[in-house]
Amino acid sequence: MPIKVGVVGAGIFGVNHLNAFRQLSYLGVAELGAVAEINDERAKWVEANYGCPVYRDYNEMFADKSIDAVTVVTPDHLHRPITVAAAEAGKHVLVEKPLDVTVEGCRAMVDAAKKANVLLQVDFHKRYDPEHMAMERRVAAGELGKVLYGSVCMEDRIEVPSEWLTAWAPSSSPAWFLGTHFYDLVRWIIKSNAKTVYAKGHKGLLRDEYNVDTWDAINATVEFENGAVFTFATSWILPKSFEAIVNQEIRLVGVKGVWEIDTQYRGSRSCMVDEGMRTWNNNFTRESVDKQGRTIYKGYGIESIEDFAYNVQAIKNGVTIESLQGTYPSGEDGLEVTKIGVAVHESVKTGSVIELM
Ligand SMILES: NC(=O)c1ccc[n+]([C@@H]2O[C@H](COP(=O)([O-])OP(=O)(O)OC[C@H]3O[C@@H](n4cnc5c(N)ncnc54)[C@H](O)[C@@H]3O)[C@@H](O)[C@H]2O)c1
Repeated sequence: MPIKVGVVGAGIFGVNHLNAFRQLSYLGVAELGAVAEINDERAKWVEANYGCPVYRDYNEMFADKSIDAVTVVTPDHLHRPITVAAAEAGKHVLVEKPLDVTVEGCRAMVDAAKKANVLLQVDFHKRYDPEHMAMERRVAAGELGKVLYGSVCMEDRIEVPSEWLTAWAPSSSPAWFLGTHFYDLVRWIIKSNAKTVYAKGHKGLLRDEYNVDTWDAINATVEFENGAVFTFATSWILPKSFEAIVNQEIRLVGVKGVWEIDTQYRGSRSCMVDEGMRTWNNNFTRESVDKQGRTIYKGYGIESIEDFAYNVQAIKNGVTIESLQGTYPSGEDGLEVTKIGVAVHESVKTGSVIELM
C-alpha cells in the first residue's frame, strides 16, 4: 500500500517535494494526497499540474485521516507551528532545513513528535550527495585519522535573496539558508557536536542597493567537542553572471590525510550564446524519462525526500522509529544544527565567542 503524503508550501523548493511523491506513486511507494498552499496563484498551478486537492488551511489537510505524512516546505521561520500541528494530528513529518530558527522551537517540534510517536526528519540533503557519503564513510572508518580542521563555503547568486525570496529573506540569512546544510554535514562526518562559535557578519549590499534588509555574508568559526575546528563561509551575493546558482565546497584535514570536494564544479560545464558559462551539478537533480515515458527526477535533492517516504512506509510495515535512528537526519540533528545557527547570529550581534549548551 502506498503511503499518502501532504505537502505544505508549494513554492520554489516545494516543487521538488511534489515531484518526489508523484514519481514514487509510479512505484507504489507513496501518493501525493494533497497540498496546502496559501498563495492562490501557486494553489491553482498545483491543481492544474499535479491534480490533487489543494487546501488553503493546512489544518484542514491534517484533519484528513487518510494522510499518513506531511512535508513542510514553507519559509524557514514558519516551520514550527505547522510541524507541531502535523505531529499532534498524528502525521509523520519531513521539515525543510533549518528545522526552526530558534532552539526552543526545535525542542517543541522534537517533543511534539516524540509525544505523538511520529517520525521527525529534516531535509539535510547534503548527506545524500554520493561525494559526501564517500567522505563520511572513510572518515568514520578512520582512514583520515583524527580530523583536525576543515573549511566549507556555500554561496548563492544574488537573485536568491533579491528576487526569489524577497518576502522572507529578512527573516533568514546566508547562515540559516545555506550554512545549516553544512553545519549538519560536518557534524555528521566528524560525529561531533559544536562547542564554541565565533562569527562575523556583513550587511550593506542587499540592504542599501536592493532594499532587502538581510545579511550579505556570514563567516563562522566553529570548534567541535572533539577538538576539530571548521570555518563556514556563507553569502548570497554572488554576481548574476556567476556560472552556477550556488557555489559550494568542503575540505578537511586529518592527521592521516586531506580530502577536498568541489561540489559546484564537478567537471561538467557549458557555454552557450544565450546563457554564457554554466556549470552543472547533475548529482543534485537531473531530469530523465522512465520506461513508460514519464518524466522523473534523480539525484540527492530528490532522494533525501524519497528517503522520508521509505521510512514512513517501513514504519507502517512495523519497523520502529527507534530502529531507524542514525539512518536519516532527525529532529535531534535539526536541533543541534539550529543551536549552531543561533550561536552564529548571537556572535555576529555581540562580537563574542559563544559557548553552546
Ligand atoms: N533543501 C534545499 O536545498 C532547499 C532549497 C531551497 C529552499 N529550501 C527550504 O525550503 C523552504 C521553502 O523555500 P522556498 O525557496 O520554496 O520558498 P518559497 O517562498 O518559494 O515558497 C514557500 C511557499 O510556502 C507557502 N506558504 C507560506 N506559508 C504557508 C502556510 N501557512 N500554509 C501553506 N503554504 C504556505 C508560500 O505561499 C510559498 O508558496 C525553506 O525552509 C527553505 O530554506 C531548501
